[in-house]
Amino acid sequence: MSRYRIALIGAGGVVNNHLEAIAAYADRLELAAVADRDLARAEAVCSQTGGARAYADAYAMLEVERPDLVHILTPPATHLPLILAALETGAWVWCEKPLCRSLAEFDRIAAAEARTGRYVSTVFQWRFGSAVEHLRSLMAQGLLGRPLVGVCHTLWHRTADYYAVEWRSRYATAVGGPTATLGIHLMDLFLWLWGEWQEVQAVAATLDRAIEVEDISMALVRFEHGALGSIVNSALSPRQESYLRLDYQQATVEVQALYRYTNANWRLTPLPSVEEALTPAWRAIPCDRMGSHEAQLGALLDAMERNERPPVSGLEARRILEFIASLYKSAFTGQPVQRGSIAPGDPFYASMKGAPYDD
Ligand SMILES: NC(=O)c1ccc[n+]([C@@H]2O[C@H](COP(=O)([O-])OP(=O)(O)OC[C@H]3O[C@@H](n4cnc5c(N)ncnc54)[C@H](O)[C@@H]3O)[C@@H](O)[C@H]2O)c1
Repeated sequence: MSRYRIALIGAGGVVNNHLEAIAAYADRLELAAVADRDLARAEAVCSQTGGARAYADAYAMLEVERPDLVHILTPPATHLPLILAALETGAWVWCEKPLCRSLAEFDRIAAAEARTGRYVSTVFQWRFGSAVEHLRSLMAQGLLGRPLVGVCHTLWHRTADYYAVEWRSRYATAVGGPTATLGIHLMDLFLWLWGEWQEVQAVAATLDRAIEVEDISMALVRFEHGALGSIVNSALSPRQESYLRLDYQQATVEVQALYRYTNANWRLTPLPSVEEALTPAWRAIPCDRMGSHEAQLGALLDAMERNERPPVSGLEARRILEFIASLYKSAFTGQPVQRGSIAPGDPFYASMKGAPYDD
Protein backbone atom coordinates (compact mmCIF):
# COMPACT_ATOMS: atom_id res chain seq x y z
CA MET A 1 0.00 0.00 0.00
CA SER A 2 1.32 3.49 -0.86
CA ARG A 3 1.90 6.10 1.84
CA TYR A 4 0.79 9.46 0.44
CA ARG A 5 2.22 12.89 1.28
CA ILE A 6 -0.62 15.30 1.72
CA ALA A 7 -0.99 19.06 2.17
CA LEU A 8 -3.80 21.21 3.51
CA ILE A 9 -4.58 24.62 2.05
CA GLY A 10 -6.72 26.63 4.46
CA ALA A 11 -6.68 26.20 8.23
CA GLY A 12 -9.96 27.84 9.30
CA GLY A 13 -13.25 26.53 10.64
CA VAL A 14 -13.42 23.22 8.79
CA VAL A 15 -9.80 22.15 9.33
CA ASN A 16 -10.60 19.99 12.37
CA ASN A 17 -12.85 17.72 10.28
CA HIS A 18 -9.88 17.11 7.98
CA LEU A 19 -7.42 16.60 10.83
CA GLU A 20 -9.73 14.00 12.37
CA ALA A 21 -9.98 12.20 9.03
CA ILE A 22 -6.21 12.32 8.47
CA ALA A 23 -5.56 10.94 11.96
CA ALA A 24 -7.72 7.92 11.10
CA TYR A 25 -5.40 6.97 8.23
CA ALA A 26 -2.01 7.56 9.86
CA ASP A 27 -0.71 4.36 8.23
CA ARG A 28 -1.60 5.58 4.72
CA LEU A 29 -0.83 9.31 4.96
CA GLU A 30 1.80 11.77 6.04
CA LEU A 31 0.69 15.37 6.58
CA ALA A 32 3.64 17.17 4.95
CA ALA A 33 2.50 20.80 4.85
CA VAL A 34 -0.24 23.27 5.80
CA ALA A 35 -0.70 26.58 3.97
CA ASP A 36 -2.86 29.47 5.07
CA ARG A 37 -2.67 33.15 4.18
CA ASP A 38 -2.78 33.64 7.91
CA LEU A 39 0.53 31.95 8.73
CA ALA A 40 -0.29 31.73 12.45
CA ARG A 41 -3.24 29.44 11.62
CA ALA A 42 -1.05 27.15 9.53
CA GLU A 43 1.58 27.11 12.29
CA ALA A 44 -1.04 26.26 14.93
CA VAL A 45 -2.13 23.20 12.93
CA CYS A 46 1.48 22.13 12.33
CA SER A 47 2.31 22.39 16.03
CA GLN A 48 -0.70 20.15 16.84
CA THR A 49 0.23 17.50 14.30
CA GLY A 50 4.05 17.53 14.43
CA GLY A 51 6.34 17.28 11.42
CA ALA A 52 4.29 19.30 8.91
CA ARG A 53 5.72 22.57 7.55
CA ALA A 54 3.70 25.81 7.61
CA TYR A 55 3.43 28.19 4.64
CA ALA A 56 1.65 31.50 4.05
CA ASP A 57 1.77 31.08 0.27
CA ALA A 58 -0.07 28.01 -1.02
CA TYR A 59 1.50 28.23 -4.48
CA ALA A 60 5.02 28.26 -3.04
CA MET A 61 4.06 25.29 -0.86
CA LEU A 62 2.91 23.30 -3.90
CA GLU A 63 6.16 24.02 -5.77
CA VAL A 64 8.38 23.04 -2.84
CA GLU A 65 6.45 20.12 -1.36
CA ARG A 66 4.96 18.45 -4.48
CA PRO A 67 2.32 16.59 -2.39
CA ASP A 68 0.42 13.57 -3.75
CA LEU A 69 -2.91 14.85 -2.45
CA VAL A 70 -4.04 18.38 -1.59
CA HIS A 71 -7.07 19.18 0.58
CA ILE A 72 -8.45 22.64 -0.26
CA LEU A 73 -10.31 24.23 2.66
CA THR A 74 -10.37 27.87 1.65
CA PRO A 75 -13.37 30.09 0.73
CA PRO A 76 -15.07 29.05 -2.54
CA ALA A 77 -13.78 31.89 -4.75
CA THR A 78 -10.21 30.75 -4.18
CA HIS A 79 -10.86 27.10 -5.12
CA LEU A 80 -10.39 27.27 -8.92
CA PRO A 81 -6.86 28.77 -9.03
CA LEU A 82 -5.70 26.53 -6.19
CA ILE A 83 -7.16 23.41 -7.82
CA LEU A 84 -5.51 24.21 -11.15
CA ALA A 85 -2.14 24.86 -9.49
CA ALA A 86 -2.33 21.63 -7.48
CA LEU A 87 -3.19 19.56 -10.56
CA GLU A 88 -0.33 21.14 -12.52
CA THR A 89 2.16 20.12 -9.82
CA GLY A 90 0.95 16.52 -10.12
CA ALA A 91 -1.35 16.28 -7.09
CA TRP A 92 -4.82 14.84 -6.73
CA VAL A 93 -7.26 17.25 -5.08
CA TRP A 94 -9.96 16.90 -2.45
CA CYS A 95 -11.79 20.22 -2.30
CA GLU A 96 -14.45 21.50 0.08
CA LYS A 97 -17.90 22.34 -1.23
CA PRO A 98 -18.98 24.23 -3.24
CA LEU A 99 -16.26 23.03 -5.60
CA CYS A 100 -16.20 26.24 -7.64
CA ARG A 101 -18.26 29.27 -8.56
CA SER A 102 -19.87 28.22 -11.84
CA LEU A 103 -20.26 25.58 -14.52
CA ALA A 104 -17.69 27.52 -16.56
CA GLU A 105 -15.17 27.05 -13.74
CA PHE A 106 -16.12 23.39 -13.43
CA ASP A 107 -15.46 22.84 -17.12
CA ARG A 108 -11.98 24.37 -16.71
CA ILE A 109 -11.31 21.92 -13.88
CA ALA A 110 -12.46 19.00 -16.06
CA ALA A 111 -10.11 20.14 -18.85
CA ALA A 112 -7.22 20.36 -16.36
CA GLU A 113 -8.00 16.85 -15.09
CA ALA A 114 -7.82 15.53 -18.65
CA ARG A 115 -4.54 17.40 -19.28
CA THR A 116 -2.77 16.29 -16.10
CA GLY A 117 -4.23 12.82 -15.56
CA ARG A 118 -5.03 13.76 -11.94
CA TYR A 119 -8.50 13.91 -10.35
CA VAL A 120 -10.49 16.40 -8.28
CA SER A 121 -13.08 15.17 -5.78
CA THR A 122 -15.53 17.37 -3.84
CA VAL A 123 -16.17 16.88 -0.13
CA PHE A 124 -19.74 15.52 0.23
CA GLN A 125 -19.40 13.43 3.36
CA TRP A 126 -23.13 12.68 3.60
CA ARG A 127 -22.80 10.20 0.74
CA PHE A 128 -20.46 7.94 2.74
CA GLY A 129 -22.28 6.68 5.84
CA SER A 130 -23.31 3.03 6.18
CA ALA A 131 -27.06 3.85 6.20
CA VAL A 132 -26.78 5.48 2.78
CA GLU A 133 -24.75 2.59 1.40
CA HIS A 134 -27.38 0.18 2.70
CA LEU A 135 -30.24 2.24 1.27
CA ARG A 136 -28.57 2.20 -2.15
CA SER A 137 -28.23 -1.56 -1.93
CA LEU A 138 -31.95 -1.99 -1.07
CA MET A 139 -32.81 0.31 -3.99
CA ALA A 140 -30.57 -1.66 -6.35
CA GLN A 141 -32.27 -4.92 -5.27
CA GLY A 142 -35.65 -3.35 -6.14
CA LEU A 143 -36.98 -3.89 -2.58
CA LEU A 144 -38.37 -0.37 -2.16
CA GLY A 145 -40.17 0.07 -5.47
CA ARG A 146 -39.98 3.26 -7.52
CA PRO A 147 -39.14 6.60 -5.87
CA LEU A 148 -42.19 8.88 -5.91
CA VAL A 149 -42.11 11.82 -3.49
CA GLY A 150 -39.08 13.43 -1.83
CA VAL A 151 -38.71 16.13 0.83
CA CYS A 152 -35.26 17.67 1.29
CA HIS A 153 -35.08 20.29 4.03
CA THR A 154 -31.95 21.99 5.28
CA LEU A 155 -33.35 24.21 8.00
CA TRP A 156 -30.34 25.76 9.69
CA HIS A 157 -29.72 29.00 11.56
CA ARG A 158 -26.91 31.37 10.70
CA THR A 159 -26.57 34.62 12.65
CA ALA A 160 -25.48 38.07 11.53
CA ASP A 161 -22.07 37.25 13.08
CA TYR A 162 -21.69 34.24 10.77
CA TYR A 163 -22.31 36.47 7.77
CA ALA A 164 -19.96 39.13 9.14
CA VAL A 165 -17.06 36.92 7.98
CA GLU A 166 -16.20 38.87 4.88
CA TRP A 167 -16.50 36.12 2.24
CA ARG A 168 -19.83 34.58 3.33
CA SER A 169 -22.28 37.29 2.27
CA ARG A 170 -21.56 37.81 -1.46
CA TYR A 171 -22.09 35.71 -4.57
CA ALA A 172 -18.59 36.50 -5.83
CA THR A 173 -16.90 35.04 -2.77
CA ALA A 174 -19.42 32.52 -1.33
CA VAL A 175 -21.17 31.41 -4.57
CA GLY A 176 -24.55 31.79 -2.85
CA GLY A 177 -26.45 31.64 0.44
CA PRO A 178 -27.82 28.48 2.11
CA THR A 179 -28.52 26.92 -1.30
CA ALA A 180 -24.87 26.81 -2.35
CA THR A 181 -23.22 26.54 1.06
CA LEU A 182 -25.57 24.73 3.51
CA GLY A 183 -28.32 22.79 1.70
CA ILE A 184 -25.81 21.68 -0.92
CA HIS A 185 -24.98 18.59 1.21
CA LEU A 186 -28.53 17.22 1.50
CA MET A 187 -29.47 18.23 -2.06
CA ASP A 188 -26.39 16.44 -3.38
CA LEU A 189 -27.38 13.31 -1.47
CA PHE A 190 -31.02 13.52 -2.65
CA LEU A 191 -30.09 14.00 -6.33
CA TRP A 192 -27.41 11.31 -6.16
CA LEU A 193 -29.80 8.76 -4.60
CA TRP A 194 -32.68 9.44 -6.94
CA GLY A 195 -30.89 9.70 -10.25
CA GLU A 196 -31.09 12.27 -12.97
CA TRP A 197 -33.21 15.34 -12.42
CA GLN A 198 -35.02 16.97 -15.33
CA GLU A 199 -36.58 20.30 -14.31
CA VAL A 200 -36.49 22.74 -11.40
CA GLN A 201 -38.76 25.62 -10.40
CA ALA A 202 -37.59 27.81 -7.52
CA VAL A 203 -37.90 30.96 -5.47
CA ALA A 204 -35.20 32.64 -3.39
CA ALA A 205 -35.24 35.67 -1.10
CA THR A 206 -33.20 37.59 1.43
CA LEU A 207 -35.63 38.01 4.32
CA ASP A 208 -33.68 38.72 7.48
CA ARG A 209 -29.92 39.07 7.04
CA ALA A 210 -28.05 42.08 5.64
CA ILE A 211 -26.40 40.07 2.87
CA GLU A 212 -26.29 40.05 -0.94
CA VAL A 213 -26.88 36.27 -1.17
CA GLU A 214 -30.28 34.71 -0.38
CA ASP A 215 -31.06 33.51 3.15
CA ILE A 216 -33.87 31.18 1.98
CA SER A 217 -34.66 29.23 -1.16
CA MET A 218 -37.41 26.76 -2.05
CA ALA A 219 -37.54 24.53 -5.09
CA LEU A 220 -39.59 21.83 -6.80
CA VAL A 221 -37.61 19.25 -8.72
CA ARG A 222 -38.91 16.76 -11.27
CA PHE A 223 -36.79 13.65 -11.89
CA GLU A 224 -36.41 11.87 -15.23
CA HIS A 225 -38.31 8.85 -13.88
CA GLY A 226 -41.20 11.15 -12.89
CA ALA A 227 -40.70 11.49 -9.13
CA LEU A 228 -41.18 14.94 -7.57
CA GLY A 229 -39.19 16.56 -4.78
CA SER A 230 -39.63 19.60 -2.59
CA ILE A 231 -36.53 21.39 -1.32
CA VAL A 232 -36.03 24.10 1.32
CA ASN A 233 -32.63 25.67 2.06
CA SER A 234 -32.81 28.05 5.01
CA ALA A 235 -30.37 30.02 7.14
CA LEU A 236 -33.24 31.39 9.24
CA SER A 237 -34.61 28.42 11.20
CA PRO A 238 -34.09 28.55 15.00
CA ARG A 239 -34.85 24.82 15.55
CA GLN A 240 -32.23 23.45 13.24
CA GLU A 241 -32.54 20.22 11.33
CA SER A 242 -31.50 18.40 8.17
CA TYR A 243 -34.46 16.29 7.06
CA LEU A 244 -34.63 14.03 4.03
CA ARG A 245 -37.76 11.99 3.43
CA LEU A 246 -37.90 9.54 0.56
CA ASP A 247 -41.28 7.99 -0.26
CA TYR A 248 -40.94 4.90 -2.42
CA GLN A 249 -43.84 2.68 -3.54
CA GLN A 250 -43.18 0.23 -0.68
CA ALA A 251 -41.73 2.33 2.15
CA THR A 252 -40.80 5.73 3.49
CA VAL A 253 -37.13 6.22 4.35
CA GLU A 254 -36.15 9.25 6.45
CA VAL A 255 -33.06 10.79 7.99
CA GLN A 256 -33.29 13.47 10.66
CA ALA A 257 -29.98 14.92 11.85
CA LEU A 258 -28.01 18.15 11.80
CA TYR A 259 -24.43 17.98 10.48
CA ARG A 260 -23.64 14.27 10.75
CA TYR A 261 -25.62 11.07 10.95
CA THR A 262 -25.19 7.51 12.15
CA ASN A 263 -27.57 4.59 11.49
CA ALA A 264 -29.70 5.72 14.45
CA ASN A 265 -30.71 8.89 12.58
CA TRP A 266 -32.37 6.82 9.84
CA ARG A 267 -35.79 5.16 9.85
CA LEU A 268 -37.68 2.97 7.42
CA THR A 269 -41.48 2.69 7.56
CA PRO A 270 -42.72 -0.04 5.25
CA LEU A 271 -46.23 -0.59 3.96
CA PRO A 272 -47.90 -3.23 6.20
CA SER A 273 -48.07 -5.62 3.23
CA VAL A 274 -44.27 -5.79 2.86
CA GLU A 275 -43.24 -5.28 6.49
CA GLU A 276 -42.21 -8.89 7.03
CA ALA A 277 -39.69 -8.76 4.19
CA LEU A 278 -38.52 -5.14 4.41
CA THR A 279 -38.01 -4.59 8.13
CA PRO A 280 -35.37 -7.36 8.52
CA ALA A 281 -33.71 -6.26 5.26
CA TRP A 282 -33.40 -2.69 6.58
CA ARG A 283 -32.15 -3.82 10.00
CA ALA A 284 -29.40 -5.87 8.36
CA ILE A 285 -27.14 -2.81 7.95
CA PRO A 286 -23.70 -4.44 8.15
CA CYS A 287 -21.98 -1.73 10.25
CA ASP A 288 -22.54 1.71 11.79
CA ARG A 289 -20.33 4.19 9.91
CA MET A 290 -20.99 7.89 10.26
CA GLY A 291 -21.34 10.01 7.11
CA SER A 292 -18.08 11.91 7.74
CA HIS A 293 -14.90 13.30 6.22
CA GLU A 294 -13.13 10.19 7.49
CA ALA A 295 -15.45 7.88 5.56
CA GLN A 296 -15.03 9.82 2.33
CA LEU A 297 -11.25 10.12 2.68
CA GLY A 298 -11.00 6.33 2.92
CA ALA A 299 -12.86 5.95 -0.38
CA LEU A 300 -10.63 8.59 -2.00
CA LEU A 301 -7.42 6.86 -0.87
CA ASP A 302 -8.70 3.55 -2.22
CA ALA A 303 -9.32 5.22 -5.61
CA MET A 304 -5.79 6.73 -5.56
CA GLU A 305 -4.38 3.30 -4.85
CA ARG A 306 -6.19 1.90 -7.88
CA ASN A 307 -5.41 5.05 -9.92
CA GLU A 308 -9.05 5.40 -10.87
CA ARG A 309 -11.54 8.28 -10.84
CA PRO A 310 -12.56 8.88 -7.19
CA PRO A 311 -16.14 9.25 -5.92
CA VAL A 312 -17.73 12.71 -6.25
CA SER A 313 -15.62 13.77 -9.20
CA GLY A 314 -16.31 14.45 -12.88
CA LEU A 315 -20.01 14.30 -13.80
CA GLU A 316 -20.77 13.08 -10.25
CA ALA A 317 -19.55 16.45 -8.98
CA ARG A 318 -21.03 18.53 -11.83
CA ARG A 319 -24.63 17.40 -11.17
CA ILE A 320 -25.14 19.48 -8.02
CA LEU A 321 -23.45 22.57 -9.51
CA GLU A 322 -25.73 22.41 -12.54
CA PHE A 323 -28.71 21.96 -10.24
CA ILE A 324 -27.79 24.99 -8.13
CA ALA A 325 -27.16 27.15 -11.22
CA SER A 326 -30.58 26.07 -12.53
CA LEU A 327 -32.27 26.68 -9.16
CA TYR A 328 -30.90 30.24 -9.07
CA LYS A 329 -31.79 30.81 -12.73
CA SER A 330 -35.36 29.73 -12.05
CA ALA A 331 -35.58 31.87 -8.91
CA PHE A 332 -34.17 34.97 -10.61
CA THR A 333 -36.10 34.65 -13.91
CA GLY A 334 -39.37 33.22 -12.56
CA GLN A 335 -39.25 30.40 -15.16
CA PRO A 336 -38.78 26.64 -14.82
CA VAL A 337 -35.32 25.50 -15.93
CA GLN A 338 -34.64 22.27 -17.81
CA ARG A 339 -31.57 20.11 -17.16
CA GLY A 340 -28.85 20.75 -19.75
CA SER A 341 -30.21 24.14 -20.83
CA ILE A 342 -27.46 26.23 -19.17
CA ALA A 343 -24.65 26.22 -21.72
CA PRO A 344 -21.77 28.57 -22.60
CA GLY A 345 -23.25 31.98 -23.43
CA ASP A 346 -26.00 31.67 -20.79
CA PRO A 347 -25.31 34.20 -17.99
CA PHE A 348 -25.90 31.44 -15.40
CA TYR A 349 -23.14 29.33 -17.00
CA ALA A 350 -20.52 31.83 -15.84
CA SER A 351 -22.09 32.95 -12.56
CA MET A 352 -24.64 31.66 -10.06
CA LYS A 353 -26.19 35.11 -9.85
CA GLY A 354 -26.62 35.38 -13.60
CA ALA A 355 -24.40 38.46 -13.90
CA PRO A 356 -20.62 38.81 -13.83
CA TYR A 357 -19.17 38.46 -10.32
CA ASP A 358 -18.05 41.81 -8.90
CA ASP A 359 -14.50 40.86 -7.92
N1 LIG B 1 -17.95 19.83 4.41
C1 LIG B 1 -18.39 20.55 5.44
O1 LIG B 1 -19.13 20.05 6.28
C2 LIG B 1 -17.95 21.99 5.57
C3 LIG B 1 -18.15 22.67 6.79
C4 LIG B 1 -17.71 24.00 6.88
C5 LIG B 1 -17.12 24.63 5.79
N2 LIG B 1 -16.97 23.94 4.62
C6 LIG B 1 -16.32 24.58 3.45
O2 LIG B 1 -14.93 24.73 3.73
C7 LIG B 1 -14.41 25.92 3.10
C8 LIG B 1 -13.77 26.80 4.18
O3 LIG B 1 -14.75 27.14 5.14
P1 LIG B 1 -14.32 27.61 6.61
O4 LIG B 1 -15.59 27.77 7.36
O5 LIG B 1 -13.24 26.75 7.14
O6 LIG B 1 -13.72 29.07 6.27
P2 LIG B 1 -12.82 30.00 7.20
O7 LIG B 1 -13.07 31.40 6.75
O8 LIG B 1 -13.05 29.65 8.65
O9 LIG B 1 -11.34 29.55 6.84
C9 LIG B 1 -10.77 29.74 5.56
C10 LIG B 1 -9.26 29.79 5.71
O10 LIG B 1 -8.68 29.87 4.40
C11 LIG B 1 -7.59 30.82 4.46
N3 LIG B 1 -7.38 31.31 3.09
C12 LIG B 1 -8.18 32.09 2.34
N4 LIG B 1 -7.69 32.24 1.09
C13 LIG B 1 -6.53 31.53 1.05
C14 LIG B 1 -5.56 31.28 0.04
N5 LIG B 1 -5.70 31.75 -1.21
N6 LIG B 1 -4.49 30.52 0.35
C15 LIG B 1 -4.34 30.01 1.61
N7 LIG B 1 -5.23 30.21 2.61
C16 LIG B 1 -6.32 30.95 2.32
C17 LIG B 1 -8.07 31.87 5.44
O11 LIG B 1 -6.98 32.61 5.98
C18 LIG B 1 -8.78 31.01 6.50
O12 LIG B 1 -7.91 30.59 7.52
C19 LIG B 1 -15.59 26.55 2.38
O13 LIG B 1 -15.60 26.14 1.03
C20 LIG B 1 -16.80 25.98 3.13
O14 LIG B 1 -17.99 25.95 2.33
C21 LIG B 1 -17.36 22.64 4.51
